Amino acid sequence: MSPTGMHEKVLHHHDHHSAGGTPEYCRSHGLHLLQMGALYAVSQVLSRSLDYRETMREVLRLLAEEAGLLHGMVSVVDPETGSLVIHAIVGDESDVDVGAIRYQPGEGMLGLILEKPRTIVLKRVSDEPRFLNRLGIYQAELPFIAVPIRVGNAVRGVLSVQPEEPEPEENSLLDERVSFVEMVGNLMGQSVRLSQQVEQEKSSLLEERDLLRRTVRHQFGFDSMVGRSAVMRRVFDQARMVAKWNTTVLIRGETGTGKELIANAIHYNSPRSRNALVKLNCAALPENLLESELFGHERGAFTGAVESRKGRFEQAHGGTLFLDEIGEISPSFQAKLLRVLQEGEFERVGGSRTVKVDVRIIAATHRDLETAVDMGDFREDLFYRLNVMPLFLPPLRERIEDIPDIGKHLLNKIGQSQERKLVITEGALRRLAQYDWPGNVRELENCLERAAVLSEAGQIDADLIRFSSPRDRQGFNRGSNPAPKVDAAPPVASPPMDFNDPNLSEKERVIAALEQAGWVQAKAARLLGMTPRQIAYRIQTLGIEVKQF
Ligand SMILES: Nc1ncnc2c1ncn2[C@@H]1O[C@H](COP(=O)(O)OP(=O)(O)OP(=O)(O)O)[C@@H](O)[C@H]1O
Ligand SMILES: [Mg+2]
Repeated sequence: MSPTGMHEKVLHHHDHHSAGGTPEYCRSHGLHLLQMGALYAVSQVLSRSLDYRETMREVLRLLAEEAGLLHGMVSVVDPETGSLVIHAIVGDESDVDVGAIRYQPGEGMLGLILEKPRTIVLKRVSDEPRFLNRLGIYQAELPFIAVPIRVGNAVRGVLSVQPEEPEPEENSLLDERVSFVEMVGNLMGQSVRLSQQVEQEKSSLLEERDLLRRTVRHQFGFDSMVGRSAVMRRVFDQARMVAKWNTTVLIRGETGTGKELIANAIHYNSPRSRNALVKLNCAALPENLLESELFGHERGAFTGAVESRKGRFEQAHGGTLFLDEIGEISPSFQAKLLRVLQEGEFERVGGSRTVKVDVRIIAATHRDLETAVDMGDFREDLFYRLNVMPLFLPPLRERIEDIPDIGKHLLNKIGQSQERKLVITEGALRRLAQYDWPGNVRELENCLERAAVLSEAGQIDADLIRFSSPRDRQGFNRGSNPAPKVDAAPPVASPPMDFNDPNLSEKERVIAALEQAGWVQAKAARLLGMTPRQIAYRIQTLGIEVKQF
């Protein structure tokens, strides 16, 4: 014991058994029971909630009411300054402005604990000149106990209390109280650790989510679309404006012009970006499958429907549904779709329950829907439902000024996947500008990828640029800008066949059209007056091997 009356936990335990039956024993036993009850209550409070300031206050309240320990206070080490800051306090002192009070290491009783982790016990506050009583709440004649709150090996805070009774000269129960306060301190440490862990995990999860969102927005946002031509700038402006609202968007444009890309950008820049973007290619499925894919089905709705399943509409609830190739759906399916668009509700296939959804629709097609309406192939009412905000993506040949930018952007992308730097020469860029690009940006991408594969050093020269469509060799040129004769590039495709030649078999006709369309199926379909679904079907049934570039 120090001369001033402070000691660092005097360890002498009462022998309850030898003292059995004496008045001291009864007092000690009573306190013991009281403390056990309080400890139980404290452990319950600590395990209940993870808002640890509120929890600490409640523990302190319990200590005062059930264990006779007043002026409870929890101070926590501020990780930035290393000083102790009061986090929770109970009793009349709750209106003291505690926020301003700090204890530096070594300063005051609490600061001593920071300097060297230990329990500090005062028999009487008045005996200790270093006791600061900054809060002015402690009674001079009462004892004082402060214990470290440890998280792992580090001291993260201090729990301090003042027992309500003065210490008698004889048969002191102070040690017993000290052990109890230490136990509570340990429990608090565990709970602080838990809540810190939870906080950390929460914030790292949030960080991860934000990063993910930024990456997604970057990947699918307007950044991923290149084009400085006036037409494209107008399209981007319109898309950015319409993104904010729930307006239905109809994206038009030839194959490969970036319809899907702009649909992505609209969704990821809309208030719905936190929810799903669900896509469905309407041309890819036969009608009965399309229906159950879109609206879902109940168990037993058809053979094979063993489980009920949500359709794309339900999956897109709160988000966006992208209906690609909308021009390909049959009249009866058009009617079904119209109802959902008008009423926002439908039934699952084989179900009677009406499902309501909140979905923003973006549709896309390369078809001339106005003509389809005139011909009676497309419902006029559905057309108007979809065509609320039309966006036209012009073909690449109408914005050749974009080719250098888009080309470099695509080369960057290809370079990333090949893990090397690719550069393109001015001559190659000039050659790219002299072609009509029936497959648009997708064809440009394929062309550049082929060139990259053929380039050993990673430089794309004009002679590596080879077009997949025979049109180039047929002397296609634009305006007064005749295409130069390129000798270096051997032909990739075989000489063109005329797919209208009546002597050709069905298979030869389809192959000829595919050759001419640079193996872009949708375009070949158009040449043959078929839908993409029809040509896909023929490619399959006629056993045509599809060239992949
Ligand atoms: N402006 C652009 N900037 C960069 N890349 C583009 C641009 N437009 C299209 N692309 C790229 O071209 C390819 C084709 O684009 P997308 O799939 O969006 O075309 P689409 O209009 O949906 O074609 P289809 O009608 O054949 O489905 C994609 O790889 C896309 O990333
Ligand atoms: Mg598409």
